[in-house]
Amino acid sequence: MDPPNRWDARLYDDRAAFVTAAGHELVDLLDPRAGDRVLDVGCGTGELTALIAGRGAVVTGLDASEEMLATARARHPTLTFTAADAQALTYDAAFDAVFSNAALHWMPRLGDVVAGVARALDRPGRFVAELGGAGNTATVLRALRAVLPRLGEDPERFIRWNFPTPAACAALLERHGFRVRLDDGRRARLALLVDAVLRAARARAR
Ligand SMILES: C[S@@+](CC[C@H](N)C(=O)[O-])C[C@H]1O[C@@H](n2cnc3c(N)ncnc32)[C@H](O)[C@@H]1O
Repeated sequence: MDPPNRWDARLYDDRAAFVTAAGHELVDLLDPRAGDRVLDVGCGTGELTALIAGRGAVVTGLDASEEMLATARARHPTLTFTAADAQALTYDAAFDAVFSNAALHWMPRLGDVVAGVARALDRPGRFVAELGGAGNTATVLRALRAVLPRLGEDPERFIRWNFPTPAACAALLERHGFRVRLDDGRRARLALLVDAVLRAARARAR
């Protein structure tokens, strides 16, 4: 069984708004066109779903957290949001594009997600996603894995994150028929994120 997926929409907005803000650039990369059918996987409170809809796409936000979806529906009552586990997608050639910001690393079975995304896309289709990569939060994970067993707890019961290497991710995608494109803007995006994290940390320290 997967570790629990618990979210607090207010806390997320308060502490992690920079995550959503960094996703604006990913929406540009998606380049939604009028009438595009788009699935937003792990849509959270629906801010990026709404941004995609604002570009004229017909978008469905999908998330496993009822808490996050309640906020998404309250904020964007005209948009479609679905409660589902992205590791068990049931769509068949239903979307022109699948989008995901900062959500895939919360899904322990990434292979099942990619298989479902491949099925959900109407070929050729495009999958534009951002996720945490190998080495992310390594110090925190090392500490949890060192300390929790001493308290009689199995760390893996609590650690939901899955941070793959770019090579593992590319191989997985290629196994499911995707052609992988490296994004030249990666460094700029990382700098943007680091800057946002620093600003958030400074604001909290005040
Ligand atoms: C960090 S939030 C990102 C939300 C939004 N994409 C954004 O950029 O603000 C991660 C989201 O992934 C969702 N999530 C985690 N595991 C999931 C799963 N197996 N299926 C669907 N959603 C999932 C969580 O519920 C959460 O809303």
